[in-house]
Amino acid sequence: MRIAVVGGGPGGLYFSALVKQLDRSHEVTIWERNAPDDTFGFGVVFSDETLGGIEHADPLVFAEMQRHFARWDDIDVHHRGTTTTSGGHGFAAMSRTELLGILQRRCGDLGVTVHYRAEAPHPDRLREEYDLVLAADGARSQLRTAYADVFRPSFETRRCKYMWLGTDLVFEAFKFYVEETPHGVMQIHGYPYDRTGSTFIVEMHDDVWQRAFGNIAALDLPPGESDTKSIALVEQLFAHVLDGHRVFANNSKWLNFLSLRNETWRHGNLVLIGDAAHTAHFSIGSGTKLAMEDALALAACLHEQPDLDTALTAYEAERRPVVLSTQRAAQASLEWFEDIGHYVHQEPEQFAFNIVTRSRRVTHENLRLRDPEFVAGIDTWFAGSQPVPTAPRPPMFHPYRLGHLELKNRIIVSAMDMYSAVDGLPTDFHLVHLGSKALGGAALVMTEMVCTSPEGRITPGCSGLYTPEQEAAWTRVVDFVHGATDARIGVQLGHSGRKGSTRLMWEGIDEPLPEGNWDVVAPSALPYSPANQVPRELSEAELADLRDEFVRNAEAAARAGFDVLELHCAHGYLLSSFISPLSNRRTDRYGGSLENRLRFPLEVFDAVRAVWPAERPMTVRISATDWFEGGTDVDDAVAVARAFAEHGADGIDVSTGQVVKEERPAFGRSYQTPYADRIRNEVGREFGVAVIAVGAISSYDDVNSILLAGRADLCALGRPHLYDPQWTLHAAADQEYAGPGVTWPDPFKAGSRRPQTGRSEGPRPRLELVRHGEPRTRHARWRPGSAPTG
Ligand SMILES: Cc1cc2nc3c(=O)[nH]c(=O)nc-3n(C[C@H](O)[C@H](O)[C@H](O)COP(=O)(O)OP(=O)(O)OC[C@H]3O[C@@H](n4cnc5c(N)ncnc54)[C@H](O)[C@@H]3O)c2cc1C
Ligand SMILES: Cc1cc2nc3c(=O)[nH]c(=O)nc-3n(C[C@H](O)[C@H](O)[C@H](O)COP(=O)(O)O)c2cc1C
Repeated sequence: MRIAVVGGGPGGLYFSALVKQLDRSHEVTIWERNAPDDTFGFGVVFSDETLGGIEHADPLVFAEMQRHFARWDDIDVHHRGTTTTSGGHGFAAMSRTELLGILQRRCGDLGVTVHYRAEAPHPDRLREEYDLVLAADGARSQLRTAYADVFRPSFETRRCKYMWLGTDLVFEAFKFYVEETPHGVMQIHGYPYDRTGSTFIVEMHDDVWQRAFGNIAALDLPPGESDTKSIALVEQLFAHVLDGHRVFANNSKWLNFLSLRNETWRHGNLVLIGDAAHTAHFSIGSGTKLAMEDALALAACLHEQPDLDTALTAYEAERRPVVLSTQRAAQASLEWFEDIGHYVHQEPEQFAFNIVTRSRRVTHENLRLRDPEFVAGIDTWFAGSQPVPTAPRPPMFHPYRLGHLELKNRIIVSAMDMYSAVDGLPTDFHLVHLGSKALGGAALVMTEMVCTSPEGRITPGCSGLYTPEQEAAWTRVVDFVHGATDARIGVQLGHSGRKGSTRLMWEGIDEPLPEGNWDVVAPSALPYSPANQVPRELSEAELADLRDEFVRNAEAAARAGFDVLELHCAHGYLLSSFISPLSNRRTDRYGGSLENRLRFPLEVFDAVRAVWPAERPMTVRISATDWFEGGTDVDDAVAVARAFAEHGADGIDVSTGQVVKEERPAFGRSYQTPYADRIRNEVGREFGVAVIAVGAISSYDDVNSILLAGRADLCALGRPHLYDPQWTLHAAADQEYAGPGVTWPDPFKAGSRRPQTGRSEGPRPRLELVRHGEPRTRHARWRPGSAPTG
C-alpha cells in the first residue's frame, strides 16, 4: 500500500512506525511542515492503561519511552493554604520533544520517508496518488477543512483561557494549585516530565483573564512581546509556588480550548486521526494519548481487515465510542474548571475530593482502592460536617432534614408514571408498586405525576387527586407506607399541558390517542410535535382556574397524609412549558422575559404553599436545560431555582429536557448532576434549600461520590428502582453496612444478607506456571506495565 501521512506529530509518526512494522512492503511518506527538533509543548502524560497498549504494540518504542518516564502516583491539591494528597493514580509522563525524537528515530529505522519543513501536497492530489491518506495534521487540520462538507466538524470555543508553559521546578506529583487572586480564581495544572522540568499550565475563566491580563492585551504589542509580558505576570502571581524557579515558554500563547467533533472521520481513502478528528481537554490526560491510541487502532484494523474500506470502517467503529466517552469526561472536567469559582469555598477535604472526581469517571470506590487513607479522611470529614456529627458511615446513609421533615437517608424513589390508573383512580398496582419501594429502604418515595384534572392527565392511564375516590385510594397507599415502614411518601402534582391526550408509554410515548382525544392547553398555540394536537392558548381567566385546581388537589394531598408535595415544573408539561421560551411565546405578562415566564408557575407555587401544611416540605422539579438552542440553559436554571427558593421551596429536584421534541441531550453517567451542582453551589447554600440530583445515577458509588463532592444533598433514582425495588437495602448490604439509615423491615430481616452462592468442591487454581512466550492460561492476569513472569 502507498500511504501518505500529513503531520509528523505523535499520531502521524506512531501510525507510520506501526504500519511499517506490520508490513515492510508498505510505502509510507510523512509531510511535516516543521523541522524535526521544532517541537512545541512540554510534557505528555499517559495512564497505565494506555501504556499497556503501547507496550504490546511496539516494545522497542515502549522501552525507549520507559527510559524517559517520570512516574508518580500522587495528586496534590493546593487550596486555601492546605495541601491534600490523593494517592495511587499511576501516571507516567515524558517530554514531548523526547517522545517525538523516539518516534522520529523509529520511523527512520523502519524506512518511513519523512519530509521535514515541507507543506503537504494538495489533498486532492494525495487522494489520487495514494491508496490511503492519513490526516494527522492537528486540530486545525487543512485536510479536514478541505472536505468540511463531508466531515461536518463542529467547534465549540470554551470559556477559560490557558497557556501551556514549562518550569525548571520539578514537581514530585501531579499538582493543582488553586489561587484566589484579586482578579479571581486561577489554577495551575503541573506535572513533572523529566529530571529537568515540569509542565506548568495556567488556566482561568475569561472574566478573570480579562481583569488580570486585559491591560497587557490592550497595549496592542506584537504577539511575542505581549506573551512575554503575560508570562512575567504569571511568574509574579505564582512566585510563591515557583520559589525562585523560572517559567519558560515554547511558542506559548493564550488560548481558549476548542472542543472539536466530526460527524465522520473518513472520506473515501482519507482518514482523520488524533487532534484532526477530536480534541479532549488537557485536564483529563493529553491529546497525545488519544492520538497514539487512534494510531494503534488504525494500524491494527489495516492489518486485521481484508480490505481498506472494511479497515477504515472498523477503525471508526472501534474508536468512536471510546473517544466519545473520553470527550464526555473531558467536557465534565473542563466545565468544572470553568466553574471553579463556585467550589473554592468548599473545605479542603471536600474540594480535593471534588477536583479528583470532577470528570465523574473516578469515584469514591475507585479512590478507596487507590488510596484508602484519603477516602477514610473524606468520609470522616463528611460525617463530622453533618448537623449532628456522627461516626463515619457510607455517605448515602447519613440522615437529612428536608424543611422540617427528617429523612433517614439520602435516597429518593424518583417520580415514575405507571400509566396504570383507571379514570384517574390509583389501583392496587399503585399500592403494591409504591409499597414495595417504601419497603426497599429509600428514605422518600415519590408518586408518579398525579394530575390535577381529567384534561390535565398525560394519558388515560394517569392518576389524579381531583375526586374523593382518588383521595381515598391515595390515602390507602400513604397509610400503608406510614404503617409498614419508616419511609416518607411524597406526591408530585402536575398538569400535562400540550403533552396531554397521548398514549400509554408502551403504546407510543407522546403520540396522540387513536381516538377519544381531549383538548389540550398551553401558554401558546404551539404543538409539541407536528403529530400532536395544537393546544389552545390559555386566557388569564383559565390560568386562575388552573391555579385553583392545583390548590384543590394540594388540599386533597394534605388530607391524604402525604409528607412532601412536589410541583412538577419540568419535562415540558404545563408549568414547564410556561418557563421555556421555546413553548411560551406569549406577549402578555406571562410571556417574554424569564420573570414573566415564571409568573404562572410561581403563582401556582404560592397558592399551593398557602394551603399545604407549613411543617410539610414542598419541592419543585425543574428542567434545568431544554437541550436545544434558544431554550433555557444552566444560567436560567439557577435563576429559576433561586425564584422558587425565594418563594419558599424546600428543595429543587434537578431534571432536564423533554420540553421540545427536537432536543439533543448529552446522555451519560449522572449526566444531569452538573446542573444540580451549579444550583446547589449558587442557590442551595444561600437559601438552605435541598438540591436533588437525578438521572442515570445507578450505583451507590455514584451516590456517595455526588454527596461527598457536594454536588447534591439527595439523589433520586428512577429506573434502578424498577430493576430492584430494594435498591437501597441492597446497597447497604453491598457496602456491608447495617447501621442507622438502613431499615430492613422486620419480616424481611432473615434476608438481609446477600444469599450464599453455590460452592465448587474442586480446589481453586492457586498457582500459575507461565513462561515468556508460552500461551497464558485462562487464569493468567496481565497487569499493564508488567511482563508475565512465573
Ligand atoms: C501550544 C500547544 C502545546 C501543547 N503542549 C502539550 C503538552 O505539553 N503535552 C501534551 O500532552 N499535549 C500538548 N498539546 C496537545 C497535543 O499537542 C495534541 O493533543 C497532540 O499532539 C495531538 O497529536 P496529533 O499527532 O494528532 O497532532 P499534532 O501533534 O498537532 O501534530 C500535527 C502536525 O501536523 C503538522 N502539520 C499540520 N498541517 C500540515 C501541513 N499542511 N503540512 C505539513 N505538516 C502539517 C504540524 O506541524 C504538526 O506537527 C499541546 C498543544 C498545543 C497547541
Ligand atoms: C417509567 C417512567 C416514568 C416516569 N414518570 C415520571 C413522572 O411521572 N414524573 C417525573 O417527574 N418524572 C418521571 N420520570 C423520570 C424519572 O423520575 C427520572 O427523572 C428519570 O427516569 C431519570 O432517572 P433514572 O436514570 O434514575 O431513571 C419517569 C421515568 C420513567 C422511567
